[in-house]
Amino acid sequence: MNIPGKADVLLGLQWGDEGKGKIVDVLTPGYDLIARFQGGPNAGHTLEFDNKKFVLHTIPSGIFHPGCLNIIGNGVVIDPVTFSLEVDSLGIDRDQLSTSLMVSCRAQLILPSHRLLDMVYEQDKGIAKIGSTLKGIGPAYTDKIARCGLRLADTKEPDFSDKYQSLKNIHFELAKSLGHDIDDFLFDGMGFDMYESRWFDGLALINSLKHIESEVYVNHALDKGKKVLAEGAQGTLLDIDFGFYPFVTSSNTIAAGACTGLGLAPSRIGEVFGIFKAYCTRVGSGPFPTELFDQDGDLLRKYGNEFGSTTGRPRRCGWLDLPALKYSVMINGVTRLIMTKADVLNEFDAIKLCVSYLYKGKKIHFPPSVYNENNLKPSYISMKGWKTDLSRFKSIKELPAALLDYIRFIEEYVGVNIDIVSTGPDRSQILY
Ligand code: GDP
Ligand code: IMO
Ligand code: MG
Repeated sequence: MNIPGKADVLLGLQWGDEGKGKIVDVLTPGYDLIARFQGGPNAGHTLEFDNKKFVLHTIPSGIFHPGCLNIIGNGVVIDPVTFSLEVDSLGIDRDQLSTSLMVSCRAQLILPSHRLLDMVYEQDKGIAKIGSTLKGIGPAYTDKIARCGLRLADTKEPDFSDKYQSLKNIHFELAKSLGHDIDDFLFDGMGFDMYESRWFDGLALINSLKHIESEVYVNHALDKGKKVLAEGAQGTLLDIDFGFYPFVTSSNTIAAGACTGLGLAPSRIGEVFGIFKAYCTRVGSGPFPTELFDQDGDLLRKYGNEFGSTTGRPRRCGWLDLPALKYSVMINGVTRLIMTKADVLNEFDAIKLCVSYLYKGKKIHFPPSVYNENNLKPSYISMKGWKTDLSRFKSIKELPAALLDYIRFIEEYVGVNIDIVSTGPDRSQILY
């Protein structure tokens, strides 16, 4: 599968939560190194095996495989508080962690006052809010681009404390100028000062790990024939450029993000694994053409257990959106498709697929740059459901005919084959 000297990329093709964590965990035995390239603790990647369940936010999903090295790349924004909670939740010994996890010196920090600003901005937007995870992602990436962010490398410099205080003061002034009192906000149930002291404890933990020039490390690893998988977070339809702006996250979630987020040249990219659910979900606000408000939507949420891994919010559910999927395949140059959560559709008599949109009276086959529920209507076809429990099947070719028809229809529409089908949350529930 892996092309020598090239890194493979794995990413989401919808609005996040496609099951990236599970698939990275499944594919990890074929790799030496798993590297996260963007996003931060807004991500929640769920892994299940041996009757245990883990949710990863910042740590790459290869962490449970002994011998595999995990890297948090320069494109990631790190919150030390979430990071230390995450480490504690894994049950991995801290000494052992330092042998399997390394962090880029260039990764940016999410300050407690970035979280404050996230809450302030969302509150001020009122009903127009983005539905951010409130983890400080937007403000941290804003400061990165404004060239005033703090990187892990900065924490080792003598002027770090001054830089930290100065940036925090700017954030406080900003919040005050917008009419907010810092004392009105809670940070994981704590006041600012207590949270800030947890933040510095978390920073000490991160600083006990090896900080590396990860772009050099990863490129050298490829030169030496090591197999590298770049792990994305969120999904293509949440990408800052190609998502449904402004209802997006603040990073490039697409394959190109692996280049900037790890220091990989485009010529270094091998396979691009695109993960999609057999239907669609979205958490947070913003357009969702195929969203269901009826009993089918409730059933998808129930069977798929569609509640956010990071915030616990109910996920909005809808039928598979093929124009959006094809667009994501194009933007990422997907070479291999992976479909998850096929089992969630087991009970449906009929399954709908959106095959085009009616946009301002015209039929189109891609998501336009500006739209809302009034000017865009999805057009559907309906396919027969398979009404079969998928747990007994051992390979894709054995699957029920109706599901194979569903798979073939998607493959033909988007022009890439589906190589892997996931039929349950556990590591073992996977068909090739
Ligand atoms: P990620 O953010 O892309 O890693 O996905 P999340 O972990 O946020 O959400 C995916 C959810 O679906 C998790 O609860 C997974 O355990 C679960 N999951 C993954 N694959 C499957 C599948 O094939 N079937 C079912 N029923 N659940 C799955
Ligand atoms: P994983 O990696 C699903 C959504 C939020 C919100 C928007 C902006 O688990 O797939 P942000 O906190 O980034 O400013 O929020 O993006 N969002 C996600 N939705 N899965 C995620 O990550 C998400 N990360 C952010 O709900 O609508
Ligand atoms: Mg998730």
